[in-house]
Amino acid sequence: MLIRRTKKSELKESDLTPESVYKSRREILKKLGIVTAGLPFAAQSQAGIFDIFGGDDKKSESSAIFQRSPIVAPKNNAYGTGIELTPETKVLNYNNFYEFGTGKGDPVENSQNFKVDPWKLEVTGLVNNPITLGYEDLLKRFPLEERLYRMRCVEAWSMNIPWIGFSLAALLKEADPLGSAKYVAFETLYDPDQMPGQRSQFVGGGIDYPYVEGLRLDEAMHPLTMLSVGLYGQTLAPQNGAPVRLVVPWKYGFKGIKSVVKIHLLEAQPPTTWNLLARHEYGFFANVNPQVDHPRWSQSSERFIGEGSIFSSRRKPTAMFNGYGEEVASLYSGMDLRANY
Ligand code: MTE
Repeated sequence: MLIRRTKKSELKESDLTPESVYKSRREILKKLGIVTAGLPFAAQSQAGIFDIFGGDDKKSESSAIFQRSPIVAPKNNAYGTGIELTPETKVLNYNNFYEFGTGKGDPVENSQNFKVDPWKLEVTGLVNNPITLGYEDLLKRFPLEERLYRMRCVEAWSMNIPWIGFSLAALLKEADPLGSAKYVAFETLYDPDQMPGQRSQFVGGGIDYPYVEGLRLDEAMHPLTMLSVGLYGQTLAPQNGAPVRLVVPWKYGFKGIKSVVKIHLLEAQPPTTWNLLARHEYGFFANVNPQVDHPRWSQSSERFIGEGSIFSSRRKPTAMFNGYGEEVASLYSGMDLRANY
């Protein structure tokens, strides 16, 4: 077993704080200014951008700190080098994972007892060779590599993250899609015992769980599309979607479904969680596009979350396809990207 969970009472302070990340989460959250007032989902849709994914400062009674394990993975520089990385502390403490609460600090607070081993990821549907991967398979069956990707959230903030994982195409090729397969549907674990947001509509932001996402098959097969099992040289933390999550760097962050248990190939376009919640605000494609504003805010620029306080982060212009146009624009040639937002 690669991940060990230990009771907080059994740990020394130094054990709790690898690289100071967890040294004082509460302090960090306060410094980051991400302890905000909560709103139920219905109220959020009336609110401004900082309230939309804002949450309250309710802290869980979590009695353990999730232990991540080191992963050795060669760097793949083909997709970008030299970008300023977001500090690991912020990647670990500023999250959207509504199954653990809607506040940016809720996922880290509420997910530390999350069980990722054993895990079962099924690839089913229109394939010749259905596959089920266990926890160890995720880490060993496909050659892992590190890629530095930009991540642009639909809320107009962004991070640059060193992900570890493999191209989803490698897995889909093994499953061997049938000619009739046109789309790929993804599903997050449904386990209300572990996920407080799935137990309570209020905690979970009004989402009808499990969280579901989808891609067109050609998008899913694109080499940039990654299944990630780690970041910053270690296995994923639960708040980032352990043990395995999707990363599609030219799309808004909500396409990056976390803690995936099912990948299903099908002929028709599958439903997706945010589109089901607010169809006119969140489309199926969700390609990063500075020319197509969200109905309630501009998408032309973003707050880059780097060093320093979250709210003093510098703004920068948003790039078409989040800067990956050279690689992916051809997937959408001839398509009206305003209609297909
Ligand atoms: N996956 C699930 N299952 N539940 C969620 O609430 N939030 C999405 C996405 N994946 C979400 C999810 C959103 S809105 C974003 S921006 C990213 O995860 C955030 O990923 P991060 O917290 O690792 O930065």
